[in-house]
Amino acid sequence: MKNILKKALCLTLCLTMLLSAAVLFSACGKEEPADVEQTESAATGTEALTTEESGAKYDYLVLVNKQNKLPDNWEDVVELEESVNRWDETYQVEKKALEAFTALQKDLLENDGIVIELDSTYRSVKRQQEIWDEFEAERGLEYAQKYVAVPGYSEHHTGLAIDICIEKDGVRIDDNDDMIAEREIFSQIHAKLADYGFILRYLEGKDDITGYSYEPWHFRYVGSVETAKEIMDNGLTLEEYLGKVPETEG
Ligand code: DAL
Ligand code: ZN
Repeated sequence: MKNILKKALCLTLCLTMLLSAAVLFSACGKEEPADVEQTESAATGTEALTTEESGAKYDYLVLVNKQNKLPDNWEDVVELEESVNRWDETYQVEKKALEAFTALQKDLLENDGIVIELDSTYRSVKRQQEIWDEFEAERGLEYAQKYVAVPGYSEHHTGLAIDICIEKDGVRIDDNDDMIAEREIFSQIHAKLADYGFILRYLEGKDDITGYSYEPWHFRYVGSVETAKEIMDNGLTLEEYLGKVPETEG
């Protein structure tokens, strides 16, 4: 009888050990779900990743507009890189944004025969002041307010904004009115923006939200293709995507 009890006890112990080992093994072998980049907007009920969560040094969704100044430490951390356009003009653009722009530029040239080039990118506060003064002198205060940000409040300070110009039949087109008139070419360009993580920042008919008139040339890098697609596919401004439509203007 004693022997039977011993055997039963031993069998139970062995079974328990086997079971525990199996549980442990299956837990070790199981892959944790990969970190999925959060791309949905505040407007659709979820929040974008913070820089801490994403591991990014800075927030690619930073909002700089008439109500929101460039964050104080931004220029200390942003990684800018130089690029030279076809007319040997040198520009500075945030690293990832420049990489994405170069790919967009190549795609448009090779597949659509469209030449886009850097025309205005990162701007210091001093440079923004020069642009403001130039526009105000040449086109008046009202025009400047519609198309140029007050120094310190320009998205161009982030290095994430790129103004393009185009070359058509060998001619550079960089004047605001001339570019607005090139509807067909710009609609082809805009159709590809999100594929490279860019959005059209100042949409037509949304001046009351963005604070600026339609600028078909001003692209904003938002850090990921998924985020850009959600914004562009839904015809949103960055303010709407972030749920930060200014009360006074919205
Ligand atoms: N053109 C845009 C609004 C800027 O000056 O930043
Ligand atoms: Zn611009």
